[in-house]
Amino acid sequence: MKPSRRDLLAAPLLAVPALSACDRFASAAPAQGPEALPLKDILPCPFGATGMTWQLDQADWIAQTLKHCSQLTPEWEQKMERTLGPGFTYDFEPSDRVVGFARDNGLRVHGHTVIWYSQGAEVFDDATLPRDRFAAEYDRYISTFVGRYKGQMAGWDVVNEPVAEDGEGLRDCHWSRALGMDGYMVRAFEQAKAADPDAVLFLNEYNLENIPKKGATFLKLVERLLKLGAPIGGIGTQSHLDIEIPAGQITTFMRDAASLGLPIHVSELDFPMQREGRMPDLRSVADKRAQQVARVGELAEAFMALPERQRYAFTTWGLRDIDSWLVREGKSSDSPLLLDAEGRANPAYQAVVAAVG
Ligand code: G3I
Repeated sequence: MKPSRRDLLAAPLLAVPALSACDRFASAAPAQGPEALPLKDILPCPFGATGMTWQLDQADWIAQTLKHCSQLTPEWEQKMERTLGPGFTYDFEPSDRVVGFARDNGLRVHGHTVIWYSQGAEVFDDATLPRDRFAAEYDRYISTFVGRYKGQMAGWDVVNEPVAEDGEGLRDCHWSRALGMDGYMVRAFEQAKAADPDAVLFLNEYNLENIPKKGATFLKLVERLLKLGAPIGGIGTQSHLDIEIPAGQITTFMRDAASLGLPIHVSELDFPMQREGRMPDLRSVADKRAQQVARVGELAEAFMALPERQRYAFTTWGLRDIDSWLVREGKSSDSPLLLDAEGRANPAYQAVVAAVG
């Protein structure tokens, strides 16, 4: 029988360490943390992480994923850089493998991502393709891909990152030039809905908490697309957190997002202490760690405060620190996720548990 959340929270292992500058935070990577009890048993919503084909034969990744996760997002295999070849050829085999692993192990699958400004331009070349061919292949790709997993997916990121970097308007891209700025998004959601009526269809974006203007532009876009008839079923906030943002900014965005009444997916959470392009930070590790834990705790509290029907899932982008794209790409070495390499609790894990309590 699954331990109750109250039992779990009472467990001594989950005592939230004092956030004073104690020894525990004295190194960039925290001292080995306590055992991390299963997140899927602690959170009042699905807990997700990412998976890629090359992780599917790693015993330690499988064990940790099945221990903590109730949902999986393919990190790479469902993007056009992997699925779409020259002449509009498709290769969905890697995606099939990740979806199959999740299905065989009782995990929900969240599809990521169908239409993204950063992918597909080599084949969907708006400069050379006749508009009718472009539109026909657009519809065919979405209906074929989403339809392939009909009934198997909890949801899809149908359109990813449509808002301009600074939040001033929307991104110009091959999709918008060929099908119209709102048009490509409405069309993508309509095609996805027709292909899988039961999947929750998300508009997904990053920096919504970090840049208030971008968050506001995104929410206005969601409202406008809904009025245009786009069957948007959920809001995805990637939550690649900038831990330096002022306290309260995350809470404000989550409150504003919740006012649309749609399910919300914290879809790609990570929280490096050192962000790319920033001047070296001269504060103590303990101070940075306390900042990181405070922001993660604020996000978890804001999300857990949502009505249950609006808590779609709480997903980290990678399960353990070593699974993070930030670590893989050398962008971070300071525990950007909830679990360390051995699957033990990082300080941020305790903040999430405390937020649930
Ligand atoms: O695994 C192949 C390898 O076999 C091949 O030799 C190599 C050749 O380039 O590519 C490897 O695949 C890489 C893949 O990550 C797996 O590691 C791709 O090149 C690389 O482009 C891909 O990067 C992913 C990136 O999105 C672009 O798709 C990252 O893993 C992934 O973490 C990142 O995730 C994005 C979200 O989708 C959207 N939000 C931001 C987030 C972080 O950038």
